[in-house]
Amino acid sequence: MSTALMSNYQPLSIEFINGSGAWLTDTQGQRYLDALSGIAVCGLGHAHPAVQAAIADQAANLIHTSNLYRIPLQEKLAEKLVQHSGMEKVFFGNSGAEANEAAIKLARLYANNSNIANPVIVVMEKSFHGRTMATLSATGNAKVHKGFNPLVEGFLHIPYNDVGALNELSDKDLNIVAVMVEPILGEGGVIIPDAGYLQAIRTFCDQHDSLMMIDEVQTGMCRTGKWFAFQHEGVMPDVLTLAKALGNGVPIGACLAKGKAAELFQPGSHGSTFGGNPLASRAALAVIEVLEAQQLEQRATELGNRLLDGFKQSLAGVKGIKDIRGKGLMLGIELEQDCPELVGLALKEKLLINVTSGNVIRLLPPLIMSDSEADQIISILSDVIKAYLT
Ligand SMILES: Cc1ncc(COP(=O)(O)O)c(C=O)c1O
Repeated sequence: MSTALMSNYQPLSIEFINGSGAWLTDTQGQRYLDALSGIAVCGLGHAHPAVQAAIADQAANLIHTSNLYRIPLQEKLAEKLVQHSGMEKVFFGNSGAEANEAAIKLARLYANNSNIANPVIVVMEKSFHGRTMATLSATGNAKVHKGFNPLVEGFLHIPYNDVGALNELSDKDLNIVAVMVEPILGEGGVIIPDAGYLQAIRTFCDQHDSLMMIDEVQTGMCRTGKWFAFQHEGVMPDVLTLAKALGNGVPIGACLAKGKAAELFQPGSHGSTFGGNPLASRAALAVIEVLEAQQLEQRATELGNRLLDGFKQSLAGVKGIKDIRGKGLMLGIELEQDCPELVGLALKEKLLINVTSGNVIRLLPPLIMSDSEADQIISILSDVIKAYLT
């Protein structure tokens, strides 16, 4: 790797030069089946014709103007997101961290407007919210904090999926202004909370007059079988954050708000030079049109069930497998031991996967995959896992 790059990444030496659907091709002309989608970004796969055409057309006309002028494409995109989520207002940034940074600023403004001097935002252990100073402070992972003290103050970490731990906070003298939560822990190991968890957080937030802020940067845009994962639970958050699959690879993030959270930002309170520019907005609109036209949330459920059932069958009785779980196209196969080597072993078999939280194989394949591609993932990965564990 070039010495001109900072050393924060350790990429595999493979280089991809083009992609099509669920496949990537390397410099040697070898094809790889992509069960990761650039970490939940390319939900419509690679080089999707509708997205590609929208980006090319927009680039030929107008890429950027700044938020000093009205951007009709951004307005249209906001309306679409509001329509699908039931939220009311949108702010656009360029990444998941920026979307969450905006959410955190909303919580701080909410506190400020209520004259709360030391506001607390409740966040979860094992969570991941980004790498900016505020979002890494919110993140519940010591590795992400390491070396960056002093962290941004005002975050209180409690165990994930633990309603008791949340309700115990009621007895403490804390100025809780928000609870920020992923509906499924992504980086934290594809952990799906018990039914009713989000509802319990909603109730807590209502009792404490605090904001329920859901981070759907990884779960959003139809991946889990609904447009947004909170919709499985029939609750409404006050703040919702999105990024990753929103632009299918064109950087864009969004922070949506509702009710008392929707009016907090006023002229001058937040901003972004690039956020929601014509190119990114046009790409995201193209993504939404395809998701709508093909009802890909339903396809995510179908494919997800196919993968889940397939893995449960093919790995039945294999020693060393702790759990196989998933919701839509967000799947985790948890091993009893750490298994980082599996990424390289799967790569040798031309399959792209990820291992997170040490011992969880994470699959985030594209929503446009065929049944037969899903079956190939099951068969290749099951063989790799069995060979590894025996
Ligand atoms: C749940 C969640 N929130 C936030 C982020 C940060 O997004 P980004 O890397 O676009 O800043 C991620 C990235 O993995 C994520 O999974």
